Amino acid sequence: KPADLESFQNHLRYSDRVLALCGAGLSAASGLPTFRGAGGLWRSYDAVSLATPEAFARDPGLVWQFYSYRRHMALQAQPNPAHYALAALARRKKGFLTLSQNVDGLSQRAGHPASRLHLLHGSLFDIKCTAFYCNYTESNNFTDPIAPALAIPKGGPSPASLGTATSGAGATESLQHAMHGAGSKPQGGKELDISDDRVEMPEIDAKDLPHCPRCGDGLLRPGVVWFGERLPEKIINEVDNFIEEPKKIDLILVIGTSAQVYPAAGYIDKARAKGARVAVVNMDRADTGRGGLEKGDWFFEGDAGVLVPELLKSEIGDISNT
Ligand code: APR
Repeated sequence: KPADLESFQNHLRYSDRVLALCGAGLSAASGLPTFRGAGGLWRSYDAVSLATPEAFARDPGLVWQFYSYRRHMALQAQPNPAHYALAALARRKKGFLTLSQNVDGLSQRAGHPASRLHLLHGSLFDIKCTAFYCNYTESNNFTDPIAPALAIPKGGPSPASLGTATSGAGATESLQHAMHGAGSKPQGGKELDISDDRVEMPEIDAKDLPHCPRCGDGLLRPGVVWFGERLPEKIINEVDNFIEEPKKIDLILVIGTSAQVYPAAGYIDKARAKGARVAVVNMDRADTGRGGLEKGDWFFEGDAGVLVPELLKSEIGDISNT
């Protein structure tokens, strides 16, 4: 065993309170694109025109098509061994919490106990009402809310039926067509401004978009945190309560994140301030987050899908048969 794996596993063994801060790199092995690396979503799509409240106010149909596409991709993906390994650790280690920036639902589908999983940026499968006076939300919504508006058979893709559903594929194809011109896939690495005249959007009239079943007039929106929005108060409080407890934090595992988006990335500094050692798992040696590595940190370079089960094996045993 390499020395650093040995020292890491010893530390993990004697750690009472452990955090994992996860990003898109955790789901890369499941085939989902990250945001900022090559092929990343924000290199193919213009985040400002798709992932902000202003974008939704300006063109809710466009934003819904982007999220319908991401929901479909997430439902077609499968959790990878790293998702299963974190779920196994959460079941075994009382003082362990996963803070995930991912909205893809893969940690949940890997059986991660919900009480130990905090979704800092919400979930693609949560839906909520935009009327300020209405607090309607729904979770685990797997039927594509804009399938009717995209004039494809109602019901949309569900986790089980995805392999066969034409409607899901239809939605994705029509979106890809809309976003990138006929038949092409997102151009990884090329900035694509959505207002590019090559891209004709199937206009969806707001009246055809899903409206709130409770208040009747608010448009429904994806239950994810957009740029410029605050993280869910409840989540912030729960995480801060865990961190502020008088006991120290022994370890924070930073998995597959560029650690550039705050307040999520700030949990690394908060954990350090509570005495935590830091272990970074990242494909890119240069990407150790804005704070960078400090003396005594571990850096494990490679695919989280392979490394995380390896790192946690001393605690959870061999889960490769999952
Ligand atoms: N294994 C481990 N790390 C990986 C892998 C992999 N297979 N593939 C990519 N990475 C690393 C990249 O090197 C990068 O450091 O994962 C990180 C992904 O960074 P981003 O694309 O910036 O994604 P993330 O950090 O999750 O973004 C944070 O920004 O856009 C918002 O809300 C969005 O939650 C997202 C937040």
